[in-house]
Amino acid sequence: MEAILTRHLDQDNPQNLAAYQATGGYRSLNTAFDLKPEKIIETVEAANLRGRGGAGFSCGMKWRLRGADAPSPRYLVCNLDESEPGTFKDRYLLYGAPHAIIESVIVSAFALQAERAFIFVRGEYAKGGHRLIQAIREAETAGLLGRNLGGSGFDLHIDVHLSGGRYICGEETAQINAIEGKRPNPRPKIPRPSTHGLWGQPTTTNNVETLVNVPHILMNGAEWFRRLGINGGCGTKLFCISGKVKHPGVFELPCGTPARELIYKHAGGLDNDERTLLGFLPGGASTPFLLPQHLDVPMDFDPVAEAGSRLGTGSLIILDDTTCPIETVLNLTRFFARESCGFCTPCRDGLPYLVQILNAIATGNGSADDLALLDELCSTIATQSFCAFAPGAVMPLVSSLKDFHEHYEQHIITQRCPFDASRKEAV
Ligand SMILES: Cc1cc2nc3c(=O)[nH]c(=O)nc-3n(C[C@H](O)[C@H](O)[C@H](O)COP(=O)(O)O)c2cc1C
Ligand code: SF4
Repeated sequence: MEAILTRHLDQDNPQNLAAYQATGGYRSLNTAFDLKPEKIIETVEAANLRGRGGAGFSCGMKWRLRGADAPSPRYLVCNLDESEPGTFKDRYLLYGAPHAIIESVIVSAFALQAERAFIFVRGEYAKGGHRLIQAIREAETAGLLGRNLGGSGFDLHIDVHLSGGRYICGEETAQINAIEGKRPNPRPKIPRPSTHGLWGQPTTTNNVETLVNVPHILMNGAEWFRRLGINGGCGTKLFCISGKVKHPGVFELPCGTPARELIYKHAGGLDNDERTLLGFLPGGASTPFLLPQHLDVPMDFDPVAEAGSRLGTGSLIILDDTTCPIETVLNLTRFFARESCGFCTPCRDGLPYLVQILNAIATGNGSADDLALLDELCSTIATQSFCAFAPGAVMPLVSSLKDFHEHYEQHIITQRCPFDASRKEAV
């Protein structure tokens, strides 16, 4: 398979502009400048490039809906916050291919006619953020960035914003507040950032992996990109695989690769061949579980949704039959409770309540009424909270109540975690 997103990652000195250009880097700028912005947007839409930040929305459609007549100044935000447990793909691009990020931001900003772009980098990736700043300076010195860049008549300034470090800063409206120097609470859905974003101006946010595809689409065409995928998917995808597998890591593979191939071929299978698969989260910490019967589902947005979950960030977290699903869900819910921005009551107070109940069940102190209470609380939290954080936070828990119902019952009836014994046997 042709690697696109990871093709520069083995380069000796990824910060070096000359080395990047020697392997074809920045060539897409001329291709982009020869095209009209509308033509670029049309090509990206025809390629069916879907957002890699979680929701899978069509990138080309998002750009087209923003409208060519949007008033200046217009902003592009490249989202490299990546703070969700189990998702660790964007850091590969940051540390391994900073010039590929800059090139993709330039051509995307040109398509959107955005005069200023921000790359929002997770705080813990500070070293990568500083290297990215160095690479931006290098590109500016070479005339690839700044006023009349590459002689195109187009001006672009790129800033790197290092996050103060909260998960909610990945949500696009909270991120806009963070860039403006405000407390990063999410904003109301209306007015949309596409018309009233940064400092009230038109703003488009995309995940970094989404954007890094754009230069390749411009150089090779929409049809080429579509054909890179399999089983109906388009392009390639950076899949993160973690949990109970032999070789956890990031794998660039065709969009639509079945889960079975990801887990058993590329990640080497379960770390102990004696064990069996219990289930997996297909798209990161805020997606519903899939089960062994879903192993042949193509890992692409629509098939995973049809199977009852979400492709999310394409990050598979694997549980084997020695992993307690309740402890796993408790661990994730603890994370979400800690990361709630605190702005609305159902999320701020509801998530710690879930942690309390789950903890009681996991430690053998649960009661028969707890399952109905968990169900009811999740429904209230998901529907009554202000932003998409809360519905995502309860997704693994809600699906576990259905998929692992007997495990919950066992914990409650026996007043202990049955996995303690099986874990001891497995050692
Ligand atoms: C709580 C929360 C956290 C998010 N974190 C990220 C993140 O770290 N990176 C990201 O690209 N998108 C994240 N998103 C999605 C963004 O709000 C936005 O939809 C995305 O950056 C758009 O890019 P895309 O269309 O290219 O996927 C998050 C959403 C929510 C609700
Ligand atoms: S749902 Fe949670 S993260 Fe979102 S605004 Fe409410 S408290 Fe903040």
